[in-house]
Amino acid sequence: VVCEAVRDKRWITRTALPEDSMDKPNIVTCTAPVNIAVIKYWGKRNEDLILPINSSLSVTLHQDQLKTTTTVATSRSFQEDRIWLNGKEEDITHPRLQSCLREIRRLARKRRNDGEAGLNLTGMSHKVHICSVNNFPTAAGLASSAAGFACLVYTLAQVFGVEGELSGIARQGSGSACRSMYGGFVQWIMGKKDDGKDSLAQQVEPETHWPDLRILVLVASAERKQVGSTSGMQTSVQTSCLLKHRAESVVPERMVEMIEAVQTKDFTAFAELTMKDSNQFHATCLDTYPPIFYLNNVSRQVINLVHRYNRHYGETRVAYTFDAGPNAVIFMLQQHVTEFVQVVQHFFPPDTNGGQFIKGLPVSCASLSKDL
Ligand code: DP6
Repeated sequence: VVCEAVRDKRWITRTALPEDSMDKPNIVTCTAPVNIAVIKYWGKRNEDLILPINSSLSVTLHQDQLKTTTTVATSRSFQEDRIWLNGKEEDITHPRLQSCLREIRRLARKRRNDGEAGLNLTGMSHKVHICSVNNFPTAAGLASSAAGFACLVYTLAQVFGVEGELSGIARQGSGSACRSMYGGFVQWIMGKKDDGKDSLAQQVEPETHWPDLRILVLVASAERKQVGSTSGMQTSVQTSCLLKHRAESVVPERMVEMIEAVQTKDFTAFAELTMKDSNQFHATCLDTYPPIFYLNNVSRQVINLVHRYNRHYGETRVAYTFDAGPNAVIFMLQQHVTEFVQVVQHFFPPDTNGGQFIKGLPVSCASLSKDL
């Protein structure tokens, strides 16, 4: 039974809710979508609390597309907390998982102590078993940790009856996860406080705001990335003066311009800011010492193709952005999707060895042949 619970702007679904009882586990399943940053987060000022050096802005995908599904069960018969990711048991003592579990349990205790009515008190002290699966490649630069921690925090909150602002907890799992707690266009305000209480996600516009905006994901490689975001950004903070300049002098202005472009649905401004910010992020990776390379030859060919396509029409119809991996995320308006997909298919014919070219709106995934 799937019941949609897009509650107070959250773009997350919740599926089953068997009643808790003394001998039956309480089980909740939720899904959370990936978000794609158009103004990138790269660099922390506090590693433990995950506080960023700049604000960022992203678009949350539709929940039927790239997503994480997480089931959390609690039972008094469970001896310890445990977690399985994509079918494999992982170490629950990971500090980030522990932060999320601790914070949710703390809020649950607080609610109980505050004497909130209607609280299901059974299970508050029970151990949890967590199962989480992604429907896309993990750690290939497709923001898997964002959907993963957003889903984990939301599902735990459902199990323990916790409500309210949860993006500050998701942030402590993975920075970008705080943005997946909301649908539509979401900013993560960096905040100023040392305790991170003001470093939260906020919806800029809801998912209904720009209905003809489309996203195409071009999968250039589904391999695990060489340098993870966490360690990559750590090295960048330590060694790149371009990153410092970007955080202090470029992003603050760009955030204002991007919010304006989103609010006025100005595709040209949105697209140009998106491409420039992706390029500057990858430039900071190159400015990192030793340098980090996330883009590959296919990524660079996609960048050239987008610019050639836009030049051909004398207007910016398509934009690209790349996270910590070679896969391209393309933004465009609905009316240009069919033609642009044909252009991509022409230059990157579907791989005959099982490669797929899956088209499905509003998000499409294409598997590109690597040797073009
Ligand atoms: C390039 O959120 O994965 O995708 O906070 O260390 O878990 P941690 O990093 P993470 O970094 C994402 C970086 C990015 C840009 C972005 O999503 O803003």
